[in-house]
Amino acid sequence: MANVVVVGAQWGDEGKGKIVDWLSEQADTVVRFQGGHNAGHTLVIDGVTYKLALLPSGVVRGGKLSVIGNGVVVDPWHLVDEIARLQAQGVEISPKTLRIADNATLILPLHRELDHFRETNNAGLKIGTTKRGIGPAYEDKVGRRAIRVVDLADESTLPSKIERVLTHHNALRRGLGIDEVDAGALLAELKAIAPTILPYADAVWALLDDQRRAGKRILFEGAQGALLDVDHGTYPFVTSSNIVASQAATGSGMGPSAIGYVLGIAKAYTTRVGEGPFPTELFDEVGETIGAKGREFGVNTGRKRRCGWFDAVLVRQTVRTSGIDGIALTKLDILDGFETIKVCTGYRLGSEVLDHLPANQAAQAKVEPIYEIIEGWSQTTAGARSWAELPAQAIKYVRRIEELIGAPVALLSTSPERDDTILMHNPFED
Ligand code: IMP
Repeated sequence: MANVVVVGAQWGDEGKGKIVDWLSEQADTVVRFQGGHNAGHTLVIDGVTYKLALLPSGVVRGGKLSVIGNGVVVDPWHLVDEIARLQAQGVEISPKTLRIADNATLILPLHRELDHFRETNNAGLKIGTTKRGIGPAYEDKVGRRAIRVVDLADESTLPSKIERVLTHHNALRRGLGIDEVDAGALLAELKAIAPTILPYADAVWALLDDQRRAGKRILFEGAQGALLDVDHGTYPFVTSSNIVASQAATGSGMGPSAIGYVLGIAKAYTTRVGEGPFPTELFDEVGETIGAKGREFGVNTGRKRRCGWFDAVLVRQTVRTSGIDGIALTKLDILDGFETIKVCTGYRLGSEVLDHLPANQAAQAKVEPIYEIIEGWSQTTAGARSWAELPAQAIKYVRRIEELIGAPVALLSTSPERDDTILMHNPFED
């Protein structure tokens, strides 16, 4: 039985939450391994909607262990709020069901302020971030000055750690004309939140290794999408973490062989929030229709998502950079009723034809999609639970996507409801 990694194969918002929830029934443990509360996962269970940002999606199902790995950046105040919000919806969350890596980096209020300042004051490149402090927190992590979960437990060294991070940030803030952060006030805030966070802290690398050896099934839940990966995405319009499937190992403290099956999640079309290149973006009524039918608004930020046709070039690239074994294709029903549907199969850059997105930023902005036109279908695919219920043209569309991306469709999701899923291949039974 393989462990499974779920990774977004586009720019995020592919519908990972539902798929992870669907798979979590077969898992013992669900692990987040990168990102933070910039993610927005919506789960609809028996008509009740749960919105998650930082907590692993498995948390809403009883009897599962949820783990936040070291690759995640944790805003402790947000965490407390999110736990409280879900508990108010009747979800059971306690240190027995949720473990957080003691070596995970904390997001501090100063990270959020810096993220916000950069995005709103033209102080550098506008990325269109979620303004949650994700990037600045990762910067401090690799800058070796971050405060980590475990530091909350040691009152004797916490003041010197705060001093170190503030030496950097207050110099920066002075330069930007922002008020300096008071060390005493930050210490008091961290001391106040520490007793709520520390009961969840654990050496999760050891816990997960024990689980693996005991034959437990682990589901790794990716956030965002591989095209936002800091190395393999549309840099610099990316998030600040690695997102590709191999990060599941690094971001949880497991060896690469712990990763079994890699399930990429892709929407039957493409969306993106924030700035950056998007070769198949639609600026016309078709794009508006897809956005309205697909309810393409951010779960957390409420921002309108940019919409476009399915880009097989990009998903093919993700299949290769993440070693994707199979795809869960979501939101096929949003394409119901279109007379024709376009799929991008290559790019034109000047006189050149490309089969991948080049790394060069200027070239990424300039590539023009080469489209294949596919006949649409008039019947609805919404809520279908078997191939037999799908119109022939919809099946053709799915089959053509498989050919173009070089990976099979293992699951097809036909509505936000968990059971509206067609299973072709169970990733856990690989
Ligand atoms: P950050 O992760 O907040 O730093 O934002 C960096 C980029 O990633 C921006 O374009 C965001 O819109 C995008 N982003 C971050 N989280 C998500 C997500 O969960 N879904 C889609 N895009 C995201």
